[in-house]
Amino acid sequence: MLLTGMDAPTTNQPMPEKYNKRLFTPGPLNTSVEVREAMSIDMGSRDPAFIKIIQQTREQLLRLAGLTTSEADYTAIPMQGSGTFAIEAALGSLVPRESTLLVLINGAYGHRILDIARRLNIQVDYLQFDETQAVCPQTVRDYLSEHPEVADVALVHCETSTGILNPLQEISHVVTQAKRRFLVDAMSSFGGLNIDVTTCPIDTLIASSNKCLQGAPGLGFVITRVEHLRMSKGRCHSLSLDLYEQWRGLERNGQFRFTPPTHVVLALHQAIEQLVAEGGVETRNQRYENNQQLLMSGMNQLGFQAVLDTALQSPIISTFHMPSDPHFEFERFYDLLSERGCIIYPGKLSHTDCFRIGTIGDLNDNDITTLLQSIRECLSLMQVEF
Ligand SMILES: Cc1ncc(COP(=O)(O)O)c(C=O)c1O
Repeated sequence: MLLTGMDAPTTNQPMPEKYNKRLFTPGPLNTSVEVREAMSIDMGSRDPAFIKIIQQTREQLLRLAGLTTSEADYTAIPMQGSGTFAIEAALGSLVPRESTLLVLINGAYGHRILDIARRLNIQVDYLQFDETQAVCPQTVRDYLSEHPEVADVALVHCETSTGILNPLQEISHVVTQAKRRFLVDAMSSFGGLNIDVTTCPIDTLIASSNKCLQGAPGLGFVITRVEHLRMSKGRCHSLSLDLYEQWRGLERNGQFRFTPPTHVVLALHQAIEQLVAEGGVETRNQRYENNQQLLMSGMNQLGFQAVLDTALQSPIISTFHMPSDPHFEFERFYDLLSERGCIIYPGKLSHTDCFRIGTIGDLNDNDITTLLQSIRECLSLMQVEF
């Protein structure tokens, strides 16, 4: 879907204020002033000060996963690029080619894992669930008991294509009791939902800088067991996405092997400090929950219908059915909201006409109230009735 917008500036002028909008999207998201200021420093990638920041950021990431840095079992490896690059690095490096990977799918990001695995010539199988239903732990248990060839299982924690929250804790226990390795795409949940690897066993967790951690886009990371990394030496299909080599490089001299996104690393470091100052993941989760609940009740009052059952809904992003009134045209709705400083997101479901509104990033109840007020104005301008 091509979304129209205001023309980009063509000169060297500073970015006009009109581009500064509230992003009700799954990311990139609104960042704090402090995070943006952290990016105003040009740091040398081999400078000891930057090397220290990389080290601290890796330790901060482990702590956020419930791991102490003295625990040598796990390590956090930053990887240049968006979240998908980190997923591709993890699959390409950590999944053996002799056994089978089982992908649990209930949305577009599960399909993406399957696509990546196929490209990498990983033997792969999948269990497909309805896009509006959570992955079922019992189905996974039954499948694993009948398929000894499966050695690894992959799950998307929060399927951002709908906002559905999969039962991570239950599935992690099913997978680890069945003695398989568990890989989790926690791209849109890490930092916004509590994930403690010590009580919710996960072998590999993948996320990125620009979602619930509220940093800038450009960096993914993989938190994984050192033991699995060691076994992955020489396996990766790619030079730049080789997680083992990235880890060895970081352990050797604290540096990225290839040019790191220095500004993005500085932003992430600052963003995690602010997450801790906010009160940690629990407090952030509460803010996101408040945002989502306020949004949902406001949207219901306006006449919109949510696609998901409340029990399955994450605080990350919500999906709404398009109104049936022919006056409602999503492109116009998007543009009118954008003119009012609010950016929403198109839908990503195979069979349902819908759109999405995110509730994460540097947003609070005032922002949600502003959005709801703007939606009301737009509906009235478009003469939409429910
Ligand atoms: C659950 C999930 N996985 C993977 C991705 C892909 O991340 P990226 O777009 O940063 O490559 C996203 C992006 O929204 C996501 O939400």
